[in-house]
Amino acid sequence: MTSLFEPLAFRTGLTVKSRLALAAMTNKQSHEDGTLSDDELRWLRMRADGGFRLIFTCASHVAKDGQGWSGELGCFSDAHLPGLTRLATDLREHGSSTMAQLFHGGVRADAALSGTKPWTATETETARAATEEDLTRVIREFGDAAVRAKAAGMDGVELHGAHGYLLTQFLSATENQRQDSWGGSLPNRARLIRSVMREVRARVGASFTVGVRLSPEDFGNAKGMDLDESIQTARWLAEDSADFIHLSLWRSELMTKKRPEEHAVNVFRAALPADVKLIVAGAVWTPGEASALLERGADLVALGRSAIVNPDWPRRAEEATSAAPFEPKRPPVTIEELTARGLSKTFAEYMRVWKGFVKDA
Ligand SMILES: Cc1cc2nc3c(=O)[nH]c(=O)nc-3n(C[C@H](O)[C@H](O)[C@H](O)COP(=O)(O)O)c2cc1C
Repeated sequence: MTSLFEPLAFRTGLTVKSRLALAAMTNKQSHEDGTLSDDELRWLRMRADGGFRLIFTCASHVAKDGQGWSGELGCFSDAHLPGLTRLATDLREHGSSTMAQLFHGGVRADAALSGTKPWTATETETARAATEEDLTRVIREFGDAAVRAKAAGMDGVELHGAHGYLLTQFLSATENQRQDSWGGSLPNRARLIRSVMREVRARVGASFTVGVRLSPEDFGNAKGMDLDESIQTARWLAEDSADFIHLSLWRSELMTKKRPEEHAVNVFRAALPADVKLIVAGAVWTPGEASALLERGADLVALGRSAIVNPDWPRRAEEATSAAPFEPKRPPVTIEELTARGLSKTFAEYMRVWKGFVKDA
């Protein structure tokens, strides 16, 4: 059985030193202009020091009009390049590979931050419908951002096709009501995410690792997602040269909603070529839960909230023995406990949004 501490080689030539990644997490710590702050670097570096050997940045906007939150890391201008370079260099010196998660908020972009009306697949109360020009531009902007991540010395990029942002809004059978070649049938709804994947590949070449994060079924803000459509989309993305598919499951212990006898990891693994790696995330707290996902066929497990509370989760899991097993700390945690774990006050307070995570001392 594959161990959590075995290296993972991507077909691009990238080798990640273990099977444990820090999932992309919005942390509100960047400067207002999207440049990297010391706070953001410190929180990620503490996870590299703790043994997470692949670090995904937070969702980072590829265009100003795609920004979802204040304090979000930007990837849309060369002004971001020095910070991205510092991040990649620093995390490498601390033993880890880094990938930028590239995204556009679409209807969920914040007009107050971007100064422009949001746009998405189909007109809503707050957003206008995308024009051909918007789509041509955003495809190019994803490519530009990936080129920047590569120039910064990052090890790859993850295209954020999950959680109901622009790429999911186009994939969605309910949110995308377009009548043109960007809506309707699945091939049309998948056209934007596939075009972005192909553009990014054309711009960064075959030796740079590029993957896509997907929400295989409805959960939270990801709406109109069907398991079989998501499997087909993942297959197409693999044809379009994605090096990995990252399943965001939220509760990875559960079977699929559509077919309760099947687990998403098993079905995506069976659907994808063997050299396309499968990453999975969702409420992984214990080493046993992480190993169970590898056993199902995942290549790498990404941790979110457990990595916030346990910055050195991988190191402690590796050092554990049957006499002294690793018992990860669980929420609720106090603001002071979070700041002691390398979160700034801003990020720690933001964690109140996550139900049951923060307690008052
Ligand atoms: C504070 C916070 C911020 C998040 N931001 C992002 C994000 O920027 N991009 C993304 O794809 N997922 C984001 N997620 C989802 C996580 O990557 C992860 O998939 C999810 O939290 C489930 O894993 P967990 O149960 O280990 O936390 C965020 C989660 C948390 C808790």
